Amino acid sequence: MATIELRDVHKSFGAQKVLEGLSFSVEQGQSLVLMGPSGSGKSVILKHLIGLLKPDHGEVEVMGKSVPELSGHELSLLRKDMGYLFQHSALLNWMSVFDNVALPLREGRDCAESEIRERVQKVLALVMLEGAELKLPEQLSGGMQKRVGLARALVTEPKVILYDEPEAGLDPEMSASISATIRRLQEELGTTSVTVTHSTSCAKTVGDLLAVFEKGRIIVSGPPAEVLASELPRVREFLGTPID
Ligand SMILES: Nc1ncnc2c1ncn2[C@@H]1O[C@H](COP(=O)(O)OP(=O)(O)O)[C@@H](O)[C@H]1O
Ligand SMILES: [Mg+2]
Repeated sequence: MATIELRDVHKSFGAQKVLEGLSFSVEQGQSLVLMGPSGSGKSVILKHLIGLLKPDHGEVEVMGKSVPELSGHELSLLRKDMGYLFQHSALLNWMSVFDNVALPLREGRDCAESEIRERVQKVLALVMLEGAELKLPEQLSGGMQKRVGLARALVTEPKVILYDEPEAGLDPEMSASISATIRRLQEELGTTSVTVTHSTSCAKTVGDLLAVFEKGRIIVSGPPAEVLASELPRVREFLGTPID
């Protein structure tokens, strides 16, 4: 069974159809990258996977569970095995970097303070934020805030991680380093992930599979190098001129 599976998912907001029969699956340990124009429904897809939105029609399964059918309690259990990097970092601005990152460990988990300290320091090192523990989010640049969000998504070493535009707002060097971190985690921990990105270099570094999404459906999918070289006019239009 695939770790993540969507079958014929439809979702509208009022008269606006966002997902129109979307299907895809991600096997355990695999990394799927989703690319698509702004406003095409990429964040909406991730929110279905974590149970923040329910489909109007179709099935959403994560780690063998039908997400829309879970009770509140079952959903919070499932979410313990999932990490989510929000598109906007969604940090709590009255809490220090340390406390923001420690939050998932303190919420309903039996985690000793010494272990929390160790884990937080480990992930902060991973995103190159050692020494920023006591800062407040507003004292950090956008890129640093993004990396705090990333550290928070990783701190529980979840089995499934959803990354919503992890490279957005970062300079090219930091963006490359975040992509490499995502890839390394997947290889070291066997994490299954879905990454939404606008960056072709992020897609190449992170993805085992790349799916290009438009108007509620996937228009092409496959190994990133193949998809990025696709001659399909709609894919070229979205990705721009061929790279490499
Ligand atoms: N909770 C919501 N209520 C109403 N409309 C929404 C909601 N969430 C997303 N939308 C709409 O769905 C469309 C897709 O949004 P989104 O998934 O955020 O796009 P993107 O691909 O840029 O991540 C947008 O037009 C957005 O306005
Ligand atoms: Mg989005």
